[in-house]
Amino acid sequence: MPARLVSGSAYAALVQAVAAASASDEAACDLQRFPDGELRPTVTGIRGGDVYVVAGTGPPVSDSIVELLLVLDACRRGGAERITAVMPYFGYARQDRRGRPGEAVGARVVADALAGAGAQRLVVVDPHTPALEAMCGVPMEMVTAVPVLARALAPDVPDGAVVVAPDLGAVKLAERYASLLGRTVAVVRKTRVSGDAVHAEELVGDVAGRRALIVDDMISTGGTIEAAIRVLVAAGAVPEIVVAATHGLLVGTAAERLGAAPIRRLVVTDSVPTGAAGAPGGPGGLPVEVQSIAPLLADVVGRLHRDEELADLLVRT
Ligand code: R5P
Repeated sequence: MPARLVSGSAYAALVQAVAAASASDEAACDLQRFPDGELRPTVTGIRGGDVYVVAGTGPPVSDSIVELLLVLDACRRGGAERITAVMPYFGYARQDRRGRPGEAVGARVVADALAGAGAQRLVVVDPHTPALEAMCGVPMEMVTAVPVLARALAPDVPDGAVVVAPDLGAVKLAERYASLLGRTVAVVRKTRVSGDAVHAEELVGDVAGRRALIVDDMISTGGTIEAAIRVLVAAGAVPEIVVAATHGLLVGTAAERLGAAPIRRLVVTDSVPTGAAGAPGGPGGLPVEVQSIAPLLADVVGRLHRDEELADLLVRT
């Protein structure tokens, strides 16, 4: 019996492409709402099946999470044999510890809720931190879109170019890009001031007269990338910066911020619909290039369905 794919509301096109490339079937998922806004999903055609629910937690964040939980529950109650939540983007992963007294650990709460709703296994694309695995009570596979992005970026990262981590948390990620592209790494030291403001001034590495590729797991408000570009340009990098991130949330004023920066190319994946408003080509006319993770997810679903190892598709930590 082929794998059964169930699509969350933000992922219809992605799931269609994954189904075609993995020879999987799509199960019907009807997402109705009660007049007060309560979601009422109905999933059919999954009894006894190996089911992959493709949904994430992108904006609107709370709605997306509730949708995913209810769809998982519908699959469990509908008699699915095995349920995997395939999450192109796992939000709340930045809340992996209490940064200040009184905070919640959001990542743990979401992970527990997913398992409680029926997910027997999670597949997450480039999670913010590998620490997420330890918070999940069910097995989690962390797969990566870095090779997809690195392939697309290669022509714009010539000899002498440097891969830049825009904060210390992105160093491992930058090393993965650098190793695929055969380049060196520089690091910007960033301090977060608030949800949409960061401060960056120190740079470790030589960027003078060189082209730079900034890589991050996600771009939310664009504050991190904007600050890193400022530091790079002040240090003499060629002011035609290439930027890449797996998750292009691009919320709030990201379009204006990044639109005004000396960016030559901005590349993200379709792990979240580009820009909260889903405007074609990116919000506010910001030229955003989108590389699809459909072939990656098709490979993941195919291998898991056949009980094969994911090996080369996994994030190496
Ligand atoms: C934080 O550690 C993440 O890796 C990203 O750098 C951050 O979440 C990006 O957010 P923003 O675009 O709002 O600066």
